[in-house]
Amino acid sequence: MKTLVIVIHPDIEKSVINKRWIEELKKYPEKYTVHSLYESYPDEKIDVEREQQLIESYDRIVFQFPFYWFSSPPLLKKWFDEVLLYGWAYGSKSGYKVGGKKMSLAVTAGIDEEGYSESGKYKYTMNELFRPYELTFDYIKGDYKEPFVYYGIENDPSQEWIESSVPMYLEFLEGL
Ligand SMILES: Cc1cc2nc3c(=O)[nH]c(=O)nc-3n(C[C@H](O)[C@H](O)[C@H](O)COP(=O)(O)O)c2cc1C
Repeated sequence: MKTLVIVIHPDIEKSVINKRWIEELKKYPEKYTVHSLYESYPDEKIDVEREQQLIESYDRIVFQFPFYWFSSPPLLKKWFDEVLLYGWAYGSKSGYKVGGKKMSLAVTAGIDEEGYSESGKYKYTMNELFRPYELTFDYIKGDYKEPFVYYGIENDPSQEWIESSVPMYLEFLEGL
């Protein structure tokens, strides 16, 4: 069963870690389809029908993005607003086309994990900050799985440290 990985990174050329993850996923085309929204839609005009067809052909969907302002880059919000339509994603007997599909997030964060805790600088855990995604996927009857987060990328990451994320990410995807 192949996994659709939807990448939302507005500046993939300058990316370190998301770029490395994409490079790895592309080694296994029999397992993963990588679909980069900013590359598919440089003008940010989303082809809704194409996106819906793509989603319908996969049972496991992961949204991969860098954490920006405690959320995702904006094209993912636009994608939710435009693609998850009434009558297709929810709200009628023939809707819920995403229903039962495994859905999750793979997120890279600049800040350390300790910052994302009740006693930490940013007060909330990632799972709390991810609630809008959890609720969105619940609303459309997706099967939400706990996301994969790789923290602390702003701490001048070594190549070794970046590489160590790769098997962890693949393990997460395999375990979905
Ligand atoms: C506009 C912007 C906002 C950011 N906001 C956050 C944030 O709220 N929390 C955080 O942990 N990191 C934040 N970062 C750091 C990014 O998450 C980090 O640079 C990114 O995950 C690295 O991935 P990449 O190498 O693929 O670009 C922000 C970075 C940018 C450019």
